[in-house]
This record gives sequence, C-alpha cells and structure tokens, in this order.
Amino acid sequence: MGARLPPLTMQFNNITIASMRAVIRAVDFAVPARRVANEELSATLDTSDEWIRSHTGIRFRHIAASSQATSDLAYEACRKVLDQAGVAGNEIDLILVATASPDFLGFPSVSCIVQDKVGAKNAGAMDVGAGCTGFIYALETARNFVVSGSARNVLVAGAEILSRIVNWDDRNTCVLFGDGAGAALVSADSGEGDRGILRSVLRADGSGARLLERTMGGTRFPFTGGAADIPGACLHMDGRQVYNFAVRVVAEGIREMLEKNGLTIDDVAWIVPHQANVRIIEAAARRAQIPMRKFFLNIEEYANTSSASIPIALSEMHSRGLLKNGDLLVTFGFGAGLTYGGNLIRW
Ligand code: ACO
Repeated sequence: MGARLPPLTMQFNNITIASMRAVIRAVDFAVPARRVANEELSATLDTSDEWIRSHTGIRFRHIAASSQATSDLAYEACRKVLDQAGVAGNEIDLILVATASPDFLGFPSVSCIVQDKVGAKNAGAMDVGAGCTGFIYALETARNFVVSGSARNVLVAGAEILSRIVNWDDRNTCVLFGDGAGAALVSADSGEGDRGILRSVLRADGSGARLLERTMGGTRFPFTGGAADIPGACLHMDGRQVYNFAVRVVAEGIREMLEKNGLTIDDVAWIVPHQANVRIIEAAARRAQIPMRKFFLNIEEYANTSSASIPIALSEMHSRGLLKNGDLLVTFGFGAGLTYGGNLIRW
C-alpha cells in the first residue's frame, strides 16, 4: 500500500507542527446468542431462503433476548474493547454510541448507560443518530476530538436491536435486519508515520427522510401486541428507492474519497461497506469499477445491523488477521436520514 497522504499538520505561532493522530487501538463486537436462519422465518412468513439469499445475500441474523436492550450489547462490545486495549474506564474522555434503536425513545442516552457500566468517571457521553451511517459519523467525531487535543481516548460504538422495531409481518423489511454491536477505542498518537483515521466524508440528504422511517417507540419498552396497527410504530422503508440511493452514493462516495485524497483503488487494501445488501455492493462496485474482492462482506451471518455493521466487520477482519499495519481502508455507509459517508483509515 504505497500511497502516502500529505502529513496532517497545523500552524501555531507560525510554526508548523504535526498534529495528534487518532488511531483505532482496539475493535471488538457482541451479537446475541440466538442465531435465526432464513428457514425459521419462512415457517411463519410468506418468504423463502431462496428469495432472501438471492435478493440480499443474507442467511442468518442474530436476535436479542427479550431481556436485552441496545445498551447491553453496546456495553458488551465496549467492555471487550477496553480489555483488549488494557485501558481502564476512568481513562476514557468521551463515549459516543451510534444507534437508531436506543433503549429509550427520549433519555437517558445509550452512551450514558454504557458510561456508568464501564466506570468512565471522567467521560462525556452522547448518542449519535445518523441511521446506518452512525458509526462513520461517530468515528469522525472522535477523530476531531482527538486531533484537536480535546480528548485522548474516545470509546466509539455502533449498537442496534432492530428486531424490536421491525414489523415481523412485513416480509419487505423484517428479513433484512439483525441485532448486534461493535466498538472501537480511538486514541491519540503522536508517533511517527500516518496511521489513524485520516479523513472522512459526511453527507446527508434529508429530502429522502420519508424513504426510511420509524417514528414511534423504543427498544426498552417496545410496542407489543398490535404494534403493526399503530401508525409509525414500526420501521417503514421504500426499499427500491433506498436501493437506488445506496448504489449511487456508495459508488460516487468511494470515488470521491479516493480522488480527493489523490488515491486510486490500488492504494486501498479493503473497502468496508455498510452491510445492507450484497446486491447494493455489487451494483455499486460495477458502477465505480471496483473489483468485488476489495469489499469485505459478512452480511450472510449478521444481516443488516445498521450502525453496528461496520464495527462488527472491522472486528471480524481484525480477529481473522485481514488487517495489516499500514493498510489503507475505506469505510462507507448509508442509511436513514438519509445519510451517507465514509472514513479513510490507515490501519
Ligand atoms: N420474501 C419473498 N418475497 C418478497 C420479500 C421476501 N422477504 N420481500 C419482498 N418480496 C417480494 C415483493 O413483494 C415483490 O413482489 P411483487 O412483485 O409481487 O410485488 C417482489 O418480491 C420484488 O420486490 P422488489 O421490491 O422489487 O425487490 P428487490 O429486488 O428490489 O429487493 C430489497 C427488495 C431487498 C428491499 C431491496 O430493494 C433493497 O435491498 N433495498 C435497500 C434496503 C436497505 O438496504 N435498507 C437499509 C438502509 S440502512 C438503514 O438506515 C436501516
């Protein structure tokens, strides 16, 4: 991976100094134990393993137990990350949890519940709501806190229990989603080299807000019994329009990230896309003329876990030894809002 990006520097009293870099120090994830195959859904729903696999690439999804809320999965992923890094809770300056399915519709935030459980006594905590792009937004927020010197250690998670907010009678949507959480520790690093989160693109197109919406309820106290009859209680999606949007922004967004940074696809070791649908990735890859082997995919196992999908993917890549020091990665996500964006990361 030869391409070197211009060093990140800042001016201070007319002296140019290398600024702090924001490095991903550890990644890990947590999914519920219950693994549900397509066949299990087709026992009660007018669908089939063949349809789901051929239209989405999904075979399984993990579904939370009724006792679990989003913060439980977020906490589990964060606990593992802190253990992996050997960092204590009181060394964390900020906790960011990206989620579209928080414990409570209002408050407290998921990040505050996690803050208490990990003993992050010196940390601020806030949730990031950007649909499936949430983790990318949160990672870029963490980078800014770190490079500006405002924080040394930021715990960033993406966590979802989407099974609690889908309409299990709607085959157009319920087969697509799963539950899980992924987390990363982003830390300040002033050493040599250009490792770290280098740059990001964050975008939104609120004119598409109605294409993917869920306007009532929360995962801790979900609507039960007849939720499907309450307007706005369940996730609703115009799948075809979201598909078209996703293919366009993934293709154009990755191209833009490469061009803006003077890179070609050959400089990039991996593209880590939001795992919504294999066909979206295949169509975007064709459109952007990027070989499919550059994309890491694990949707077959987890389905669409929204803001958790990218940190879960990064964790699996890390534990499988796919990420080498110095590799250039591009994450790219899209989702409700509508939002989209990506991070350029030197591993
Ligand atoms: N099983 C069987 N048949 C189904 C199912 C199912 N689970 N779901 C839909 N169908 C049927 C439809 O009813 C339709 O039947 P009809 O022609 O008789 O009306 C037929 O299959 C084809 O429907 P399409 O909508 O044309 O199917 P398509 O090939 O477009 O795939 C899909 C649908 C998978 C939803 C696709 O449009 C898609 O992936 N969209 C993007 C969704 C997405 O990624 N959303 C997440 C965004 S991230 C976030 O923030 C949550």
